[in-house]
Amino acid sequence: MDGSQITLDDLSNAPDLDTLTERLAAKGMTPGWIPREQPILWPEPSTDFTPAHWKWGECRAAMDGAGKLIGTDLAERRNLILRNPVEGNDVATARTLVNAYQTILPGEEARSHRHAPHALRVILESEGAWSVVNGDKHPMNTGDIVLTPGWCWHGHGHDGQDQAYWLDGLDVPMVHLMEPMFVEEHPDGMEPIEKTTSDSPYRFTWDMTQSKLDKATPDPDGFFGRRIAYDTSDSMPTIGIYVQRWDAGFQARPYRCAANFVYCVMQGEGRSVIDGETVDWSFGDTFVVPMWKRVEHSASQDSVLFSMTDEHVMRFCKYWRFEALD
Ligand SMILES: [Fe+2]
Repeated sequence: MDGSQITLDDLSNAPDLDTLTERLAAKGMTPGWIPREQPILWPEPSTDFTPAHWKWGECRAAMDGAGKLIGTDLAERRNLILRNPVEGNDVATARTLVNAYQTILPGEEARSHRHAPHALRVILESEGAWSVVNGDKHPMNTGDIVLTPGWCWHGHGHDGQDQAYWLDGLDVPMVHLMEPMFVEEHPDGMEPIEKTTSDSPYRFTWDMTQSKLDKATPDPDGFFGRRIAYDTSDSMPTIGIYVQRWDAGFQARPYRCAANFVYCVMQGEGRSVIDGETVDWSFGDTFVVPMWKRVEHSASQDSVLFSMTDEHVMRFCKYWRFEALD
């Protein structure tokens, strides 16, 4: 039925509900009273995203393989995107977040660009790699966390001797959902370096993280252990950052919360049981705790875990909930 042919009288005086429904469909409306396959509302969060887990050994080997086969001249970013195995998904690691392992060889440069999505890097193995962010060269050494907030120019290079590896984290799936995507290549290829920064709001060194953890007290309720937050509220409000230190033998209380988390293991070894699935993690691994899934963390060795989350978005929107499950 052609909606433009439907008159006001057709709408106000339809002979029965089926006819009205048909006429409404032609006008781009669906009555709220008809049954539908997928409800519009449901009692609590329900996600297809899984507690996916990527093992560092495999990913590192794959990056070594890629390092032999493709250079940064062809691959602007030599990275491996961690795709959560949800039907139809080829980007997102968690609902609002994407992660990728990236590697760069000594002497290589990865050209500068800028984009709306916010990005960060967790440096897993590097001595001498760097990011240039808006003209400032930020060293990226093992254990550092480096931010490239949305629309900051950023490129990467490597002055060291050994191949460097890190984990990227971005809010691309959230930008896809909300649609304000912008991206631009730098006109010079690699942006000019104006200075090397020693104190930047965009770089949290391993030593800085350790010293903050040394001063942190374990959360009194036992859910998170010793945990610090890096404040990203001004620079990249869609991605919250926590780093937690769990001593060998640490056992967290189980909980679930209305936010998505991606963890990356910076040190140690342990186990997280997520929605009944056991993830045995060790250095360099990445795993996901999706929205509202029960999680119970434990550490078998002294461990440090980075995590990124959309918790702050959930809090801002007033969707946040947290529930103890013991
Ligand atoms: Fe980028």
